[in-house]
Amino acid sequence: MDAEAGLDRRHREALVRIRAREDAAFRARVPRSLELASRAGTRMPDGVPMAWMAGFYRTPVLWVSHGSGPVLTDVDGNDYVDFNVGDMSSVLGYAHPRLTEVIGERAAHGVQMFLPVEQALAVCDRLRQRFGLPYWQFTLSAGTANTEALRIARVATGRQGVLLFDGGYHGQLQETLWAGGEGGAPPAPEATGLGPLPPGLAVVDFNDLAAAERVLAQRRTAAVLIEGVLTNCGTVLPDPGFLPGLREACTRYGTLLAVDETHTQFDLYGGAVTRYRIAPDLVTGGKGIAGGIPIGCYGMTSALAGVIEANPADELGETVGLALGGTLFGNALSLACAEVVLSELMTRAEHDRIAGLGGRLSDGIEDAARAHGLAWCAHRFGARSGYCLFPERPRTAREAHRSLDPLFTDTRRVYFANRGVWDAISSAGPHAGFAHTDRDVDNYLGILDGFLDEMCAG
Ligand SMILES: Cc1ncc(COP(=O)(O)O)c(C=O)c1O
Repeated sequence: MDAEAGLDRRHREALVRIRAREDAAFRARVPRSLELASRAGTRMPDGVPMAWMAGFYRTPVLWVSHGSGPVLTDVDGNDYVDFNVGDMSSVLGYAHPRLTEVIGERAAHGVQMFLPVEQALAVCDRLRQRFGLPYWQFTLSAGTANTEALRIARVATGRQGVLLFDGGYHGQLQETLWAGGEGGAPPAPEATGLGPLPPGLAVVDFNDLAAAERVLAQRRTAAVLIEGVLTNCGTVLPDPGFLPGLREACTRYGTLLAVDETHTQFDLYGGAVTRYRIAPDLVTGGKGIAGGIPIGCYGMTSALAGVIEANPADELGETVGLALGGTLFGNALSLACAEVVLSELMTRAEHDRIAGLGGRLSDGIEDAARAHGLAWCAHRFGARSGYCLFPERPRTAREAHRSLDPLFTDTRRVYFANRGVWDAISSAGPHAGFAHTDRDVDNYLGILDGFLDEMCAG
């Protein structure tokens, strides 16, 4: 039998059957989640505390009570080994004893001080070791870190424009929720509620260096904001030479290079900038670096630190400073947790260990596909894996979207959930976390084998 790319009619029919059976089994397992959802419907739009939760899971929303290590437990008492790792926010695992200790210590001394705490210094040093940049600032989310990085870039360059790459996601920012326009059309909004297209904003395909250079040559672009590896539409790796070429073009045209490491910092130690040896002007991040306590961060060159220092905001409003900061940013609890997580728990050795687990997931997905006559491959970037339903890995978001098949992802997730594994959201694949072991990977791959048996049985 020749190996097949994509999903054929027989697979889809099987998926529809599996989905119907597994959805019914799922609903039967989560009566308390269903009850909470129905009560919540009169209190929160769509019955969820954050609106996207209603749209992401096309099964009833799972309400959770607690977690331990790699396992989260729902309000009905069902356990799930979590391979979504909170889209990197809970990549450390749940209730880590050392983190619990630090939270307790900090709580006993005040979690929010509105003044600097000493732990900030150690966090800056750890981030500098990873990303090479000397100066750091802290927010409470990666999206806000991106907002601030772009503001600094505008002031530093005196330009307004931002260059983005199709398929990238950088948070719910006015400047970044735009997709590439078809056939030379202007970028299109990816969400409602945005204002008009920001001036000078451009979106080009990932890996299209010539298109990026054409935008930069107009000298209107303050910053390029890019993930070194696209992670929000499956995984798209940079072609050899793409990132170094982009770095060089930014320098040539006076544009700053901002690399968003929010996800990739957990894929490999030092993220994409280390793996591809690029020297950005700004790096942004956040999510799980404080073990799940809210935090965002961005690093910058000495020159950009100078721009902040030259644009101070003062309490009396006598100077017009850079629009940075928030009341709870630089938060004492976030920084205490980040110090311990980055120094003791997410060590280089631990990063290497989970990158190995990610590699095992990718190998296992490819072996399972091959064994079932499917000409697929796996995404792979350190601890990150995922399903590419074609033999060639994608080079652009458009190519990557062909593998984001909701019927396949949703059916897989509910099938896995009913067998005690929480699989990833559609735009990502299973990701190894710091609490996972080889046994968890074996368990995942064992369930995958059964799932593909049924999907391919016809
Ligand atoms: C690459 C990247 N940057 C930034 C963000 C925004 O992070 P947050 O939701 O913490 O603001 C995300 C969120 O998924 C992301 O994937």
